[in-house]
Amino acid sequence: MQKTICELFAGVGGFRLGFERLNTGWNTTWFSQWEPEKKNQWAHDCYVEHFGDLPDLQGEFHTGEDISIINKDNIPDHNLLVGGFPCQDYSVAHSLNTSEGIAGKKGVLWWQIRDTIIAKNPAFCIFENVDRLLKSPAKQRGRDFGIILACLANLGYSVEWRVVNAATYGAAQRRRRTFIFAYRNDTVYGQQMSGQNAEQLIKTNGFMAQAFPISEMGEIAEIDLIEDLVEISDSFAFSFENAGYMTNHHVYTSKTIEREEPPILLRDILEHNVEESFYINDEDKMAKWVYLKGAKKIPRKTKEGHEYTFSEGPVAFPDPWDRPGRTMLTSESTLNRSTHVVSDLDTGRLRILTPIEAERLQGFDDDWTNTGMPQRMRFFCMGNALVVPMITRMGSILDTIIQNEP
Ligand SMILES: C[S@@+](CC[C@H](N)C(=O)[O-])C[C@H]1O[C@@H](n2cnc3c(N)ncnc32)[C@H](O)[C@@H]1O
Repeated sequence: MQKTICELFAGVGGFRLGFERLNTGWNTTWFSQWEPEKKNQWAHDCYVEHFGDLPDLQGEFHTGEDISIINKDNIPDHNLLVGGFPCQDYSVAHSLNTSEGIAGKKGVLWWQIRDTIIAKNPAFCIFENVDRLLKSPAKQRGRDFGIILACLANLGYSVEWRVVNAATYGAAQRRRRTFIFAYRNDTVYGQQMSGQNAEQLIKTNGFMAQAFPISEMGEIAEIDLIEDLVEISDSFAFSFENAGYMTNHHVYTSKTIEREEPPILLRDILEHNVEESFYINDEDKMAKWVYLKGAKKIPRKTKEGHEYTFSEGPVAFPDPWDRPGRTMLTSESTLNRSTHVVSDLDTGRLRILTPIEAERLQGFDDDWTNTGMPQRMRFFCMGNALVVPMITRMGSILDTIIQNEP
């Protein structure tokens, strides 16, 4: 089987970089990256600067356009489909317009992934999403992930998932993300796995257990998924744990404890001789930082006029050197509670991170986003991206799996 990849929602290419670092012959045949309603497409430009653009099967270039207007039949063939897609409302209703008789909400990107799978039938898929995907929406916990699993089951795939904290597996950032690995049941791998005991699979033999070893695992909970997505959308609710496996519409899930590896610490990724512009010099600004990072109790009113107290605890200020960084958001570097503030290695004065340090938190090469975009966008792109070494870990497991595929 050829090691070909299609990367949807490609951002600045975290998946591609993770696979290319393996140097084992992975070849991206097509990608898609479009920031909705923005004139400047900084992430797409950065991606193309590093990897070049790719034509579709008509010889046309549409990698920088809204994926929902792309004819999926024109996407070049690939055996691995990857992508980090947003956590949205995946509910569906009956519709007479589509062949499957279902209608998802407009702009929900999961349906673009599904259409690509239907058109291209890839043997394997790896997706990334936030950890709360498993619990969403709050009023019908697990519904959205249930829809995703049922959708993949209906298309002939089995799935493993795992919530991974990158810092536990040797990275510089405490970033928890859900990784989803789907494989077609008719692959050699699919046939090998179909006879496996679910507990063994989650604990040791499965894809996720090999990429991200665990130290402990709890009881397994099970549930059957029905095929009808509308019915799942209307009434399904289930507590998905941080690890699990679905095959033939049957779900097994268990709470697992990750086996810790020594992380990279914040101090290890800090630069020397940092420019003055990154320092917090202004007294007024410093007071704002102290307020934002501090504990607070604020009286507020709901729309209905009900009074309540909004309270939040303190965030470490500055961020400690001897721990990995916190989760980086797209607002990193702005005056914001979640922005990292560090004590500088050389001067001991407080400052925000540099773009290179943000890249290091995500495990990208230094200056990856130094491709002409404004500094603010470099942080934005990194906040959107993923921890690249996590992809390389999964890629090396896929390398051994794919060897056995004809
Ligand atoms: C969570 S980010 C993924 C980042 C990526 N994994 C990386 O390493 O940089 C999702 C990306 O999907 C892109 N996107 C959102 N809507 C899109 C659409 N309709 N078509 C194509 N790309 C879209 C966003 O611009 C964003 O870069």
